[in-house]
Amino acid sequence: MLAQGILPNQNICEKNFEQARVAWETNFLSVASLAHLACARMEKKGGVIAVFGSVAGDRGRASNYVYGSGKGAVALFLQGLRHRLARTSSPLCIQTIKPGFVDTKMTASFQKSALWASPEQVARTVVRAIDKRREHLYVPWFWIGIMAIIRNIPEKIFRRLPL
Ligand SMILES: NC(=O)c1ccc[n+]([C@@H]2O[C@H](COP(=O)([O-])OP(=O)(O)OC[C@H]3O[C@@H](n4cnc5c(N)ncnc54)[C@H](OP(=O)(O)O)[C@@H]3O)[C@@H](O)[C@H]2O)c1
Repeated sequence: MLAQGILPNQNICEKNFEQARVAWETNFLSVASLAHLACARMEKKGGVIAVFGSVAGDRGRASNYVYGSGKGAVALFLQGLRHRLARTSSPLCIQTIKPGFVDTKMTASFQKSALWASPEQVARTVVRAIDKRREHLYVPWFWIGIMAIIRNIPEKIFRRLPL
């Protein structure tokens, strides 16, 4: 399982390239590198490589596009990997996990609402999904619907939303 990640301050990243670079390195480069290496070892043997992306990777938005772009790149990388493995009928399952808001160290300072999940809830869902060898999951499940709407809002309208 690959679960490392940092949530950088978007405003600081906009002015400080170094902060953005560290975020991209941690959220994408390290994840893609480890998935790449793990895949080379597991491609023939099989198993599951479960990787934490985020709903934030489904659409770029003003308030967190540095974080979101790293997570979106992870999702694209894993999608490509799955495509390649399917061509050789590899027994390896590549799983993309997209959590919504989760109450962890990363989000300790955020105000919580009904949309927030606990780490235990996310962990239980992920373990079940690994057992079932699922390739994609939103956690909790209701983010499937929320993100379907968010992804499909036309850009001209999306621009006016305070997101
Ligand atoms: N919390 C959310 O709302 C949320 C939503 C969507 C997706 N996610 C994703 O879920 C995953 C888990 O995050 P979390 O919420 O559990 O946050 P977290 O408690 O802050 O966990 C992040 C983990 O990443 C590790 N990490 C960060 N930078 C690292 C580095 N340079 N080298 C090695 N390890 C590093 C941290 O290690 P240390 O403990 O040693 O610092 C920590 O174990 C992340 O990929 C995050 O992006 C979280």
